[in-house]
Parts: sequence; C-alpha cells; structure tokens
Amino acid sequence: MENKKILITGGLGYIGAHTTVLFMQAGYDVVILDNLSNAHKESVLTAIKELTGKEPPFYEGDIRNYDYLDNLFSKEEIDWVIHFAAKKAVGESCYDPFLYYDNNIIGSINLLKVMNKHQVKKLIFSSSATVYDTEKNIPPFTETDRLSTTNPYGTTKLVIEKLLYDMALHKGFSAICLRYFNPIGAHSSGLLWENPKGIPTNLVPFLMKVAKKEIEQITIFGGNYITPDGTCIRDYIHVEDVAQAHLQAFDYIQKYIQQSSEVENWLPNFFEAFNIGTGTWKSVKEMLAITESIVWEPIAHTIGERREGDVAISVANPSKAKKMLWREPQKTIITAVEDARNAYK
Ligand code: NAD
Ligand code: WQD
Repeated sequence: MENKKILITGGLGYIGAHTTVLFMQAGYDVVILDNLSNAHKESVLTAIKELTGKEPPFYEGDIRNYDYLDNLFSKEEIDWVIHFAAKKAVGESCYDPFLYYDNNIIGSINLLKVMNKHQVKKLIFSSSATVYDTEKNIPPFTETDRLSTTNPYGTTKLVIEKLLYDMALHKGFSAICLRYFNPIGAHSSGLLWENPKGIPTNLVPFLMKVAKKEIEQITIFGGNYITPDGTCIRDYIHVEDVAQAHLQAFDYIQKYIQQSSEVENWLPNFFEAFNIGTGTWKSVKEMLAITESIVWEPIAHTIGERREGDVAISVANPSKAKKMLWREPQKTIITAVEDARNAYK
C-alpha cells in the first residue's frame, strides 16, 4: 500500500476519533488537527494509542488560522484531508450565527486555500442530513432531493458543499460529502464515546446521563407529531459504521483517480454526496424503551414541548452509498446503545 498521509481536522472529536482509529488500523499515516473546543485531549489520545499502538502527531490549532495551517502542510506533506472540524449545535447556531459562519465556513475556506496552495486536492467532508428540505421532500431523503436549511448550522454545511462543488469544477478537487443522519453509540472497546464539553443536547448521551442518575429525567420533545407514537423518528446509525464510510469513500476516490489517469483528457476531479444512514428508523419513545431494556432501569421521562427546529421524520435513502460506496452498515441500534452504555460506565 502506498503510504498516504491524511490530515484529520477535528480528529479528537466524537466521529473524528473513531475514524482516526480506523484509518490507523488500516495502516495509514494520520495527522490530527483540533482546537479542543469540544474535545478532551488526554483521554482521546490515550484511547487512540491504546487501540492502535501508536500516537498520531497532534496539532492543537484552529482551521481559521491560515499561517498555522500553511506551516502544518509544509511540515507534514499531507496528501489527503478528512474534514470534521466544525461547531455542530443547532440551537447555539440560531443564538450566535456569526460564530457558526466564522468557525465552519471561514474555517473551511481557509483550509481549502491552504490545500489549494499545497496542491492537496482530495477531501472527505462531514456534511449532514440537515441539508435536506424537510418541507418539500418526503422521507426517506435521496441525494437528488431538494436542499434547503432551517438553521445557521445547516446553512454552513450547505454552503461548504457548494464551495466543494466549485473547487471540483474549477480547481481540480475530488471531494466527497458524507451526509450523516444520526450517528450514535461508542467504540466497541468502550474507550471512545461522545463526550462533548458541557451538557449534551443529543438524545443518546442524554439518555445515558439519566441512566447514570447524573440528570434527573429526560424531556421528550413533543408527543403529538404525525408519527405512529407521536414522537419524532430518526435514522440512527452506529458511529463505527459512520467511520467505516470514510474508509470506503477514501477507496472510492482513489479508484476513481486511478481510472481517470488511464483515460486521456479525463480530469480526476469530481464531487459526490452520499447519505450515511441505514434506511431504518426509531422513534424517541422506541429509543427510550431500547435504553431501558439495555440498562435494566426505568428511564425517568416526561413529554414536553416540541424543540424548535425539530422535524417529525428524518430517514435516509441509503441506496446510493450502498451501491457505490460501501458494504451495508454492520451494527444494529441495539449494539449502538449497548456500546454507549459500556462506554459511559
Ligand atoms: P465533535 O464536536 O465531537 O467534533 C468536532 C471536533 O472539531 C471537536 O473535537 C472540536 O474541538 C473540533 N473543532 C471545532 N472547531 C474547530 C476549529 N475551528 N479548528 C479546529 N478544530 C475544531 O462533533 P462530531 O459529532 O464528531 O461531528 C464531526 C463532524 O460531523 C462535524 O462537522 C459535524 O457537523 C458533523 N456531523 C455530526 C453529526 C452528529 O450527529 N454527531 C451529524 C451530522 C454531521
Ligand atoms: C434526536 C431526537 C429530538 C434530546 C441533530 C442535528 C442534526 C445532526 C444530528 C449534525 C429528536 C429527541 C433529543 C432530548 C428528545 N447533527 N430528543 N429529548 O436533532 O435529530 O439531529 O444531530 O449535523 O443536524 O439537528 O438529534 O440527538 O438531538 O435528537 O426528545 O433531550 O431525540 O427531539 O427527535 P437530531 P438529537
């Protein structure tokens, strides 16, 4: 295998750390950049070392800092980038849109400028199901569906997808956008899990905190949606399957570039977006019941008001990814919740 050096931005975060481990286990050289705004350096680096036997080079820095990135690229001779670094809380993005435009959009433009300068033109980007227009499309969402956003966080993802499309068309980039649905669970070793700084806002980490009696109860946001049990429906996917999708996307780009080098006048640039979901779904009440059966404890809960910005149903049509990119997701929702329980212990 040709030795490829991959910069993973946000590589100490939840999905980034799982992906880092997978790429290192597959034999790639990985360099991590993270500003630690939402990651715990020591525990995650220790877990990566324990799982891979190596400690990857770590740069504590910010994607908005051009000179810092420029130096990093000069020093490390990067071939590829997997770009996770972003702020991701929908509610916070409505409260402070500029923070999200600055961190996610300006940061990504900066990264693309430096990549372009150093002729590094292969990138996998963390996009999101939130780019789908939930009013005009009927779930499950397909990649060709209409795109539109309802919050500044989602807007940053859509804008970056558009920037990448332009970079492919005009600057010879090869970019894959992975639109994750609802990544959940933890590493099967129990060493990595979703461990945000501050109070979690996502469902599974919150359920785990209630199970551990660190939080008294969970509020189910809305019980009167047009769904069978009245609560929202989501397409939950194990975080290790999400990490695996990056490895498949990486192989896909490599094969494409190799093929294109054999055809005269065929430029190796392209842009593709893929849904990363399972095509199956669970309601909030069903997730609560699954958690209760796994932790062997009732989960204290109440039904409250709808959360602003929530949609009733978000489910992926995973056909394109299944056909072009990867094998089927391997892990069930039950396994994801079990892994989360083991890690949160
Ligand atoms: P996370 O917050 O755990 O990881 C993001 C990492 O990026 C953190 O370690 C943070 O410290 C770092 N970071 C943020 N801004 C940075 C900056 N300016 N410079 C350098 N580092 C920075 O989040 P995650 O759940 O692992 O999400 C990873 C990516 O996937 C994000 O782009 C997110 O928007 C996207 N995504 C996540 C979900 C989800 O449900 N978790 C769903 C869809 C898309
Ligand atoms: C799941 C379900 C809540 C907490 C978010 C982003 C999305 C993507 C994934 C990044 C919803 C309900 C939750 C609670 C609850 N992220 N819930 N009580 O909102 O589907 O998606 O993360 O791109 O863009 O919006 O995920 O885990 O917050 O919620 O009832 O305390 O659980 O209403 O139906 P969500 P989530």
